[in-house]
Amino acid sequence: MAYNLLKGKKGIIFGALNEMSIAWKVAERAYEEGAEFILTNTPSSIRFGDIDKLAEACNTQVVPVDATSVADLQNLFQVAMDKFGGKIDFILHSIGMSLNVRKGRLYDDLDYNYMQKTLDISAISFHKVLQVARKLDAINEWGSVVALSYVAAQRTLYRYNEMADAKAMLESIARSFGYIYGRDKKIRINTISQSPTLTTAGSGVKGIDNLMDFTERMSPLGNATAEECADYCVTMFSDLTKKVTMQNLFHDGGFSSMGMSLKAMTMYSQGLEMENGD
Ligand SMILES: NC(=O)c1ccc[n+]([C@@H]2O[C@H](COP(=O)([O-])OP(=O)(O)OC[C@H]3O[C@@H](n4cnc5c(N)ncnc54)[C@H](O)[C@@H]3O)[C@@H](O)[C@H]2O)c1
Repeated sequence: MAYNLLKGKKGIIFGALNEMSIAWKVAERAYEEGAEFILTNTPSSIRFGDIDKLAEACNTQVVPVDATSVADLQNLFQVAMDKFGGKIDFILHSIGMSLNVRKGRLYDDLDYNYMQKTLDISAISFHKVLQVARKLDAINEWGSVVALSYVAAQRTLYRYNEMADAKAMLESIARSFGYIYGRDKKIRINTISQSPTLTTAGSGVKGIDNLMDFTERMSPLGNATAEECADYCVTMFSDLTKKVTMQNLFHDGGFSSMGMSLKAMTMYSQGLEMENGD
């Protein structure tokens, strides 16, 4: 159901790779709600993914950008402002990648060159997006910027590896830049901390199926889907959330506030019985 929440709003959506991507669902929902936006991803993701199909469905264009490149970002904002004849209103940063995870390096055996690249792609790129936007004065007053995060920024989760550090940094950038951009331009910056979700990036986390089963059992409302995350992003881009800024907003069915649930305890007890041969 559409409510015209984003009628007249213009934006940029980073990170739609294929139909599973959270950014893909956000683009579809934002389009339904009346927004106009540019889609962007790296040249290789554009080649290997399906983003052109999404652009066609949303009646828009794709601009190739490596989000770690300030020059690419400058060009992107210029293209957006030319296309829309002025500033934009919202940005989704839906970008994450860990080289150490990809190469199977464990947290106590990290390659530091890989780690720097991971932090650049998954966290510092968010700062670059914000800094370029501010220098070009590319976002309207009361505009909204959202980046996607994960609870591993606060809690240790087996095998999330260096991405936990990247997410902690990402959330910190939202607070630090949120102060400056809010104070000077009334622009709000938040992170949404999403449940584990089966996407290309999500599948990179070893044992994601078991993790999703665990979080489903632990969360009173169950895991949040990518479609539900898109609904939340749309409300954050809308004028209904104008005074929300510098927050890490958990969108996880309650998981982050839980210690132990009946469903998880039941499963754990069954496992113990099997282990003890009962
Ligand atoms: N899937 C999950 O379980 C989950 C949970 C919480 C948060 N998140 C976060 O959601 C965001 C989106 O991930 P997703 O799950 O939709 O997976 P995805 O693989 O569909 O999206 C990740 C995107 O990052 C893009 N990317 C990688 N390097 C880039 C670069 N240098 N410049 C620009 N883009 C680049 C990829 O091309 C891809 O489109 C990520 O920040 C991820 O950490 C995912």
